[in-house]
Amino acid sequence: MNAEQISALLDRQKPGFALEQAFYVSRDIFDFECEAILRDNWYMAGHVSRIPEVGDYFLWEIMNESIIVVRSSASTVKAFFNVCRHKGSRVCLEAEGKKRMFTCPYHAWTYSLDGRLANARSMGAGFDPADYFLFPCSVQVLCGLIFINLSDKSQADFERLYGNYEPLLDFHGLAEAQVAARDRYPTDANWKLVLENFFECYHCAPAHPEYCRIHSPEAVLAMGSSPDSELRQAYMPVIEAWRERASALGHPVDNFGSAAADPDYRGYIRAPLGNNSLSETEDGKPAAPIMGKFREFDGGHSTIVFNPFSWILGMTDFAVMFRFTPTGSRKTDLEVTWLVGPGLEAGKDYDTD
Ligand code: FES
Ligand SMILES: [Fe+2]
Repeated sequence: MNAEQISALLDRQKPGFALEQAFYVSRDIFDFECEAILRDNWYMAGHVSRIPEVGDYFLWEIMNESIIVVRSSASTVKAFFNVCRHKGSRVCLEAEGKKRMFTCPYHAWTYSLDGRLANARSMGAGFDPADYFLFPCSVQVLCGLIFINLSDKSQADFERLYGNYEPLLDFHGLAEAQVAARDRYPTDANWKLVLENFFECYHCAPAHPEYCRIHSPEAVLAMGSSPDSELRQAYMPVIEAWRERASALGHPVDNFGSAAADPDYRGYIRAPLGNNSLSETEDGKPAAPIMGKFREFDGGHSTIVFNPFSWILGMTDFAVMFRFTPTGSRKTDLEVTWLVGPGLEAGKDYDTD
C-alpha cells in the first residue's frame, strides 16, 4: 500500500467512527507511520532512578529498533541505537545491567558509555575511530523523567513542548522519586487500538468495577470525555469547588491543554478523585507517605500527558508512569512504572499491592 492509497483510505474516514481495519493491521501502514509519526516523538522512556549508577543501562525496543539507555556519567543519561558501526550487529544483548564499556559480540568493537568507539582491532592505518560513534538519539531529562526522540531534536524543541510542565512535576517530587515497581504488558494489538482504549473511559464502568469504586461515577465519565464534552462541563462545578480547597493549601490547580489544531497533543489537569478517595488504591486510602511538596492529601490527582505515548498519573503519595511503545503493526508494549518518594522501603513505608 503506498502513500496515495493510505490517503484515499483516510479521505473516506467517517468522522466519529473507528479507523478502517487496515489501519490496525497493515504492515505497510505501520511502516508509513513509523516514518511519518512515530520516529519524531518524545517518548518517556523511564525514570533516572532505574539507572542510578554510572554504567547502569536498559534496552528499549521500539518499532524495529533497539535503543541503549545508559547512565554515561553521574549527571548524564545518553541513548544510542543498539547497532554496531562495524557490520550492524546488536552491540548489547542483555535487556538491562551494568557495563564499563559496550563490547559488540561479533568482532569485539568496543564502545565507551558515551558512545565513542574506544577499541577496534586491526583496522589499519587511516581508520579513525572518531568516525564510528554509536548513532545517538536525542535525550532530555525533565524532573527525573528520561525522554528520548529517535530523530535529531534540540533542547529548544523539547522546551517548546514541555517547558511549562516543570512546576507540576516538581510539586509531585518526581526528580527525587524512586521506582517502587515496574511491569510490562506486551499487547497483541496495534498502537492506535491500545491508545484509543486508554483515552476513553466509556468502558470503565462495565470493565473496571474496582477502578470505579474509588472514583465517583460522574468523575469517571467526565474525566474520560473530552474537555469540551457535555459530561465534562456538567462536572466542572465539582472540579471548581475542589480546586478552591486545593489552592487554599497551596497545591497546584492549573490546567493546560494543547489547542485542537496543535499536532503535538499534550496537557495536564488536576481534578478530584471523587468518592472521598485520597489515592488511586483498592480502598482509596494512601499507599505511601506524601511525595514532593504536597502538604496533605487533598483528594486530587494529576493526569499529565506529554504525548499520546507518555503519561503520568500523579497521586499525592505515588505516581504512575505509562509508556506505550509501538513494536509492530499488531504489537504494542506497555510499561507501567510506579514511583514513590526517596529513601522509602517496600513493605515498611509503602505497599505495592
Ligand atoms: S559487527 Fe560489531 S564488531 Fe563487527
Ligand atoms: Fe481499561
